[in-house]
Amino acid sequence: MTLEALVFDAYGTLFDVHAVIARCETFWPGRGAALSQLWRARQLEYSWQRSLMDRYAPFSAVTRDALDYACEALGLPLDETRARVLMDEYLNLAAYPDVPAALERLQRSGKKLAILTNGSPDMIEPLVKNRGMEKLFDAVLSVDAAWIYKPAPRVYTLAVDRLGVAAGAIGFVSANCWDALGAKSFGFRVFWINRAGAPVDRLGFQPDGILRTLGDLPGML
Ligand code: LAC
Repeated sequence: MTLEALVFDAYGTLFDVHAVIARCETFWPGRGAALSQLWRARQLEYSWQRSLMDRYAPFSAVTRDALDYACEALGLPLDETRARVLMDEYLNLAAYPDVPAALERLQRSGKKLAILTNGSPDMIEPLVKNRGMEKLFDAVLSVDAAWIYKPAPRVYTLAVDRLGVAAGAIGFVSANCWDALGAKSFGFRVFWINRAGAPVDRLGFQPDGILRTLGDLPGML
C-alpha cells in the first residue's frame, strides 16, 4: 500500500532528550549524563506503570516526578528554581542534526506529516513552536487525548482517526525501538531510526525498515 502519511515520535526521535545534560552540568558538574539517563529511564517507566495501573497523569507531571526521583536517587539537591529551569529545557530541546532537512524533503514529497507523542500538549506544542517546526506538520497529536501511553494500541488509533488515513497507509517513524514495535504490532509500516547501532528489541516484531538517520528515509519510500 502506498504511504499517505508519515507519523513521527517526538522525544528521542526528532528531539534530543539528552540535550538537558548541559544545563544539568551547570547545576551539578560531572553528574549531568547520569542524571539525564536516570531521568529519561524513570520518565518512560512511570508512563508504562501508570498505563498498567490505569492511573494516567500528563507527561509533564510524569517528567517532573521522574526528575524528582532521579535527583534524590543520585543525591543531587533539587529546589523549585532548578526544577523549573530543567523542566523548561524540555520546551527547547534541540532537534537532532539530521531532522530539519529530512522533514523538509519529506514534506515536499506531498505526504501528510504528523507527530504522535507521549508529550502532553503543554510540552510538545511549545517545543514544536520554539523549534520553528509548526509549518512542517499537518497535526501534532498527543496521547493525552487517549489517557494512556505508548505502546497501547489506543494511542496509535489516534493517528488513524485524526488523519483519516488507514493504518496500512501510515508510515511510523521512531528511534525508540519499543515504540516502533508497538506501532508495528498495531499495523503501521514502521521505520526504526537506530542512531546508536543497537540490537532490535525482542518483542516478536521487526521494523519494516532500519535507518541510521532520518536523512535515509526519503530514499527508502
Ligand atoms: C514520545 C516518547 C516515546 O515522544 O518519548 O512519545
